[in-house]
Formats: sequence, structure tokens, C-alpha cells
Amino acid sequence: MAIPSHEARAFRDTVGAFATGVTVVTTALGGAPQGMTLNSFTSVSLDPLLVLVSLAHGTRTLDGVRDSGKMAVNVLHRRQQDTALAFAQRGADFPTDHAMLDPHGFYSVRHALAIMRCTIFDIVTAGDHDLVIGEVVHFESSPGEPLIFHRGAFGGLDEDALVPRGRVIGISDGEGWM
Ligand SMILES: Cc1cc2nc3c(=O)[nH]c(=O)nc-3n(C[C@H](O)[C@H](O)[C@H](O)COP(=O)(O)O)c2cc1C
Repeated sequence: MAIPSHEARAFRDTVGAFATGVTVVTTALGGAPQGMTLNSFTSVSLDPLLVLVSLAHGTRTLDGVRDSGKMAVNVLHRRQQDTALAFAQRGADFPTDHAMLDPHGFYSVRHALAIMRCTIFDIVTAGDHDLVIGEVVHFESSPGEPLIFHRGAFGGLDEDALVPRGRVIGISDGEGWM
């Protein structure tokens, strides 16, 4: 049953209060590269290394993930708004100037802040999206500021706003978040 459009708008505004980074998920469909901008990314497990993305039904990227059995999650840098927009055009050609086939056999976004190359571990249908769990087979990251998405707008991160300089936020074995 479809919900009224005003309720959908209110729901989007509510979940949009949660700030995220921005990724581009790349894959291949029938050997042709596919990719889409995506903010529904989360890390899931350390053993094995698992990450999760939520892909809308009807997207060529979801079809490609199912077809090829693999995907790359590319975390965008603060200066890659144009890349985020290029991969958010439904039905548009794959923007080859923003990504390339890498030696690992995945499509990597040029100058991405981090790249997680995955084989598909599981796919769970949830409403009008599929939750795709990827097992990370190769990963890399470089320093730099991430692109932030909040309430429908792109922005940056003031790295010193909340965390005092020098204080490390990470996961300590057995202690959870610190
Ligand atoms: C910031 C941002 C975040 C997005 N996050 C998602 C997402 O998490 N899941 C999704 O299915 N679409 C998301 N989209 C929409 C897709 O990028 C868009 O529908 C894309 O064009 C689908 O491409 P395809 O049909 O060619 O695969 C997002 C778009 C933007 C701009």
C-alpha cells in the first residue's frame, strides 16, 4: 500500500536529520559498468569483514550486483560533489571520467577517500529496497575530508567541532566504542 506523498515527504525530512557520508557503489551488468550515489552505507562485521548498502528496486546498480556478484563501495571526498551528482542521474550513461576499471577488476572512483571491494555475501529484500551485504575482499583509504549529506544538502565536516584535537575515536578490542 503506497503511503500519501505528504507522509513520504515528512518521513524523508525525519530520516534526513541523520547526517551521513556519501558513497558511489559501482558494479557491472552484462559486463557494462554501472554505478550510483548512495548514503545508506554501514559497516557490519569484522569477522568476516562485512558492509551493507541499501539499493532501490529497479536500479541498474542492483541488477548489476545480482548479475556480477560483486561491487565496490567508494567513499567520496569533500571535493567530489560533482561525482555524487554524476552518479545520481537515473538512466544516465556511466560517467567514465569519474571512475575506471582497476587492476582488481572493480570500478574505482578516481580520488575516492576510501574504497571497499566486495563479493556479495547476502541480499535481503526489505520493502522497496534490497539490503546488500558485501564481504570486503580488498580495501584502502587515504587521509582527507569526507563529503557529508544532511537534510538533502551536501556539505563538509568541521573536524574539530565536537572531538578535541588529539583524541582518537576508534574501536578497541573487546571494549566497543571509545
Ligand atoms: C546523496 C544521495 C544519496 C542516495 N542514496 C541512495 C541510497 O542509499 N539507495 C538508493 O537506492 N538510491 C540512493 N540515491 C539515488 C540514486 O543515486 C539514483 O537513484 C541513481 O540514479 C540510480 O541509478 P541506476 O538506476 O542507474 O542504478 C541517492 C542519491 C543521492 C544524491
